Parts: sequence; C-alpha cells; structure tokens
Amino acid sequence: MTNPPDQPGASAIWGGRFAGGPSVVMQRINASIDFDQRLYAQDIRGSKAHCRMLVATGILSAEDGEAIVAGLERIRQEIESGALTFRSELEDIHMNVEARLAELIGEPAGRLHTARSRNDQVATDFRLWVRDAVDGMGSALQGLQAALIDQAETHAATVMPGFTHLQAAQPVTFGHHLLAYVEMFGRDRGRLADARARLNECPLGAAALAGTSFPIDRRQTAAELGFDRPAANSLDAVSDRDFALEFLAAAAICAVHMSRLAEELVIWTTAQFRFVSLSDAFTTGSSIMPQKRNPDAAELIRAKAGRVIGNLNALLIVMKGLPLAYSKDMQDDKEPVFEAADTLELSIAAMTGMIRDLTVHAERMAESAGAGFTTATDIADWLVRVAAVPFRQAHHITGRIVRLAEERGCGLAELPLGELQAIDGRIDAQVYSVLPVEASAASRTSYGGTAPANVAAAVLAARQRFL
Ligand code: ARG
Repeated sequence: MTNPPDQPGASAIWGGRFAGGPSVVMQRINASIDFDQRLYAQDIRGSKAHCRMLVATGILSAEDGEAIVAGLERIRQEIESGALTFRSELEDIHMNVEARLAELIGEPAGRLHTARSRNDQVATDFRLWVRDAVDGMGSALQGLQAALIDQAETHAATVMPGFTHLQAAQPVTFGHHLLAYVEMFGRDRGRLADARARLNECPLGAAALAGTSFPIDRRQTAAELGFDRPAANSLDAVSDRDFALEFLAAAAICAVHMSRLAEELVIWTTAQFRFVSLSDAFTTGSSIMPQKRNPDAAELIRAKAGRVIGNLNALLIVMKGLPLAYSKDMQDDKEPVFEAADTLELSIAAMTGMIRDLTVHAERMAESAGAGFTTATDIADWLVRVAAVPFRQAHHITGRIVRLAEERGCGLAELPLGELQAIDGRIDAQVYSVLPVEASAASRTSYGGTAPANVAAAVLAARQRFL
C-alpha cells in the first residue's frame, strides 16, 4: 500500500475517514475478487491506456508513466503464471492490481487513479470483456452454422416428415430442416453484432459520476481501447449496463434456439423415431440397461437454456429501479454474464460436435415421411392444378379420400383408381404421380421451399451469407 492506514484494520485504499475495519461478514459480502478476477486482462489494458493518456496530457510525468506501465505489465504476467495471490480484503480486481502495483513501484502507483474512479474503471473493463464474449460467441455460432450447412448439403434430397403440432404434416428434406437452424443462428449472430455496435463506447474518464477537473483526453483512451467514441454522458457512462443486458438477451434467445434443436435430437434418436444416431463421443450408456445410448449432451443443452434465461432475468432485476448513477448492486452484474457466456459456449461446442458426428438414417426417414397421409395436400393441389377445382372444394374431396384410406388401413397410393373416381369423377390416374414423398418434396420449389434443388441453392447461399 502506498500509505499505511491510520487505524489498524482500516482499508488502505479508502480507510482515511474510518476508525476501524470492516467485519468479516462485511468483507465477504463486499468482495468481488472471487469472480471479477476474470476481468484482470481488461483491467490492466484499461489502466495502461489511462496512464498513457495521463502522460500525453501532462497530468502525469513520463517517468511515472513508464514505471506504472511496466509494473502493470509485470502484474499481468504474475497473474497469468499464478504467482499473484488475490486478497479478498482488497475487495476487487481493481484494488488488487493497484495494491500490487504499489508493492512493485511504490509512490507512482498512487498516481494512476488520478482522474479516474472504480466506477468508470469497472464499466470499461466489463464492456471490454463483454465485447470479447460477443466476438467469441459469434465465431462459435459460425462454426455451428458450418456444421449444419455441411450436413444440409449432404442431405439436400433426404426426405423426412415435416411436422406441425408434432403431427406428420408434409414431407420435407432434412437439409431444409437443418437450414432452418442456420437462419436462427444467423439471427443470433446479427443480434450480437447489433449489441456490439451499441456497446462500443468508452466510459473511461466519466470518473465517479460527474467527470473530472483534470484536462483528460477521453478520445485517446477510447481509441486505444478500440472503442468507437467516448460515452457522451458521465452519469450514463458509469450506470449503464445495457450492453450486458443486450448480450444476455441475445444469449437467452440463442439458448432457446439451441434447446429446440437439442429437443429434436432427443426425439429423433428415440427407438420410435430412429431418424438419426449420435456418435459415441456425444452419448453415454446406462449403468443398468446395457442397450441404452442416452443423448445426455442434448438433454443438458435443453436444460441449460433455463440458466441463461435466468441470467438475463437476474440482471434485469438487479438493474430495475436503480437510481443514477453507480450503486453497489451493479457489482452483481458480472456473475450472470460470466455464467451465461460459459454455459452457452459449452453448449454450442457440444451441439457442433453432435451435428458434425450425426449419422442420418435416410431410409427410415423416407419410410416415416409417408406415414400419416402426408401427401394429402398434394392430391388437393393436383385437383386445383389439373381439374381447376377451387382449393376449398379440393380440400373437402381429399378429406374424403383420407377417410377412405383410414377405413381401409392403407396408404393413399394403395387406393384403387375406381374408388377415387367414385369420390370425384375428375380424378384420373395421373394423381398417383404426386403421391410419392420424394415427388411431394421435389414439387415445393417456391422461394424458401423444401425441394432438393432449392436446398442445394440455399446451401450455397448460406455459405455466402454466413461463412
Ligand atoms: N467492484 C466494484 C464493482 O464491480 C467496482 C466499483 C466499485 N465502486 C464503488 N463506488 N464502490 O462494481
């Protein structure tokens, strides 16, 4: 410490007006070092930028500046090699770094905090951290999209049942189904990019809340830290956590997408569906049932969405009703963000592995694609197209055909032409050509539709847009 406390037990950083030190319980509830040590690299980077600006503006001597920057660099190395032990009586990462700096370089360490407060310091550190997390999540999602697009390319023509209400609806291609998730993760990346653009303003120099009387250059620190500009209002700069909320909101929506794909994997791998198999690398066995292969990773991804949604809720509730400017409540902003980032990063990695390793049972999918009269709409469309029947009427006629097949316990294609014609005389043998599931899928060539030719083109387009 630069100055030893006047009273035993009082904080060396802020203890000047205190006669005694905080209780153990107070220290425990107050300290954030256990978790905010994750900000060490951002904290040191921010301090170096602040120090260089103080020198450039003549607030600090070049000599002190050099000692501070060299000391900070050494602390970074000490932290990375595990040589520095953090102390909870020093509360947080900012004071741990500053106290170590004082041990290393003595008095100049006490000049670093000129024209700065922990309030603008932590807001800056945390923005830098969230910015890295945004970038990391964006590229992880790109990797997942790449895995999905590769499988979609392989399975552009693999027919499966498409569902609504989880009831067989119409045949679709598996590639088309996977590309739906590519769109979702593309929007997630877009949300992250939007959040990044708004996030990229520098709070440093707002000081405690009101700005500072020193002739600082906020543009310099903003530029050195890769921010687009300094935050315009000092009160807002130290009290804003929108960037963390936007990250969590994007993460929560992404986690919801992940949980939907995870749920489909759980369904598709059941003995009843058997559409796909997961690899040994992403499944587990049962300790009692030798036949079991459980989709644990998918189940856990499905579950973890709950945590990420909880993290968003937690921070929204921390921020709700806080008066300007900084309140200590805001120290509790970090754990939800760290947990959401960690949880989602692991989930995306596991999902990417499962998708890459997926074995697709195309024959089983095709067989299932026809179950449940999934080409009934094709008969109705055929009546509209060939016999100029109004669609509502065609729908009714086809409904009677489906009922007949149900009574017979056969598929639509097994119904004899005579019986179809007894229902409606405009039907002829051509109708059978629209009944195979492959024909049905291939006919859906409208923009964004499921036809294999569309999917092949959509794969190319997705590569252009996303990879
Ligand atoms: N550890 C604190 C946090 O994360 C740093 C800011 C402390 N500011 C203060 N005025 N006590 O929020």
